[in-house]
Amino acid sequence: MTDDVRETLSSAVLRVTDALEIFLGGDRSDALLRRDEWLKRLDGPLPAGGIGDGVLGELEDVVIPNGTRLSEPGFWGWITAGPGTVSVAASLAATVASPQRYTITAFNHLEELSLDWLGELCGLSPVMKGVYSSGGSVANLVALGAARQWALEQHGVDASADGVRGMQTAVYCSREAHHTILRSAGVLGLGRRNVRVVDTDEHQRLDVAKLEAALLNDQSDGVIPICVVATAGTTNTGAIDPLSACGELAQRFGAWYHVDGAYGLPGILDSRVSSLYEGLELADSVIVDPHKWLGAPVGIAATFVRDRSILHRTFTQEPADYLEGSFGDPDDLRVSLDSMGVPYADFGVELSAPARGVVVWSILRELGRDGVTKRIEHDNNLARHVAKLAHENENLEVLAEPILSICCFRYVNNAVSDLDSLNAHVLRRLVQETPYLPSGTVVNGHFGLRPCFINFRSEVGHVEGMMKAVVRIGDDLASRKTP
Ligand SMILES: Cc1ncc(COP(=O)(O)O)c(C=O)c1O
Repeated sequence: MTDDVRETLSSAVLRVTDALEIFLGGDRSDALLRRDEWLKRLDGPLPAGGIGDGVLGELEDVVIPNGTRLSEPGFWGWITAGPGTVSVAASLAATVASPQRYTITAFNHLEELSLDWLGELCGLSPVMKGVYSSGGSVANLVALGAARQWALEQHGVDASADGVRGMQTAVYCSREAHHTILRSAGVLGLGRRNVRVVDTDEHQRLDVAKLEAALLNDQSDGVIPICVVATAGTTNTGAIDPLSACGELAQRFGAWYHVDGAYGLPGILDSRVSSLYEGLELADSVIVDPHKWLGAPVGIAATFVRDRSILHRTFTQEPADYLEGSFGDPDDLRVSLDSMGVPYADFGVELSAPARGVVVWSILRELGRDGVTKRIEHDNNLARHVAKLAHENENLEVLAEPILSICCFRYVNNAVSDLDSLNAHVLRRLVQETPYLPSGTVVNGHFGLRPCFINFRSEVGHVEGMMKAVVRIGDDLASRKTP
């Protein structure tokens, strides 16, 4: 049997990439406006007979033109953006030529090499070794799994084999930590309610005195501290927790120390803020997401730990005949289908997984450390430019001074009492009427706009356009007194 497709791979891919070029370059309207149209073309029962390469036409005409706006230069929502060209090409290459990461291929060699490069880029010690997974959520889960295993081993319990045996445990993070920390605790049987959510200071950084108080309190109650989580670049504002102080407390209380750098770890490359990362060397685990600030396609995060044997103890699947028997003796490799030797599948929760290393490698080869640094600095500059323009305008207020590439701000006007509602409406109109697409958040109780600059297509002109649009829409809403 062969595919029911007459096209060669290159002609099929060319059709798709031509449509993608038009999609990226075009002056397109929002997919929602055409929703009835594309739903009508796409919905329907399971086809009894296939249409062969007619599906390429449907991709070209219906699916691709109605994609998302994440690649537009004015997209600054959440912490995501469209990927770069080289990394898309690398991802496609891996999909075709090395679709699994356990055999011996050039792609899979790049798994380990790129992890080492990525760790070095982000200031990690060479002893820290990594494993890729699909995103920050899973990367945090992997790290917290290691934390649970290690912490309970100190009490003679193999949590992976025997569960947590009703032991009273706690995980510590700030209230600005990503909510996947809580979910990880839930999934790992530690319990979301056993996460001590510690207050932050006025700069949205974990309050170390309150962390110490929580640890002392639990100590006197006989609760086992599993893990202290610090965030290097919070999702809301880009704040960097006091990494040294958190690490020292973790050590003092015998807890694992995890640093969530899913977004912000590459920020260490900007010399203006690199000192804020002091203490990173104390971490037992660190995560970073290449699909955030490095511009990789969605689906790539990395967890680094000091000693991957802890990951093996946490995530081992136990030997399986259908896998083990298939590979030759590691000291007598004969074919590329033998095992590449690093049991990534036992270092996390995925067995089948794409070769993600080639994508990260392609970005680091394309840009080098200097190119990545320039991008990080450029993005941090854009956030600082937002702050500057906001400070210069009496109708704008900075809610959190940028540390990395996020600047939260809001529209203010004495004539309006409910500024939260006004700003929520400013955001709605901004994303509906303009090419500027930040998201929103709440900082110190105030709703504001939250542009996060990780999009390599964004320039100063786009930022200035957004600021003007915010003032124009804000003035308009304020003058009508009804948002
Ligand atoms: C600090 C932090 N950790 C974890 C995550 C989760 O990452 P993902 O969306 O890749 O699962 C995010 C997402 O924005 C994040 O900002």
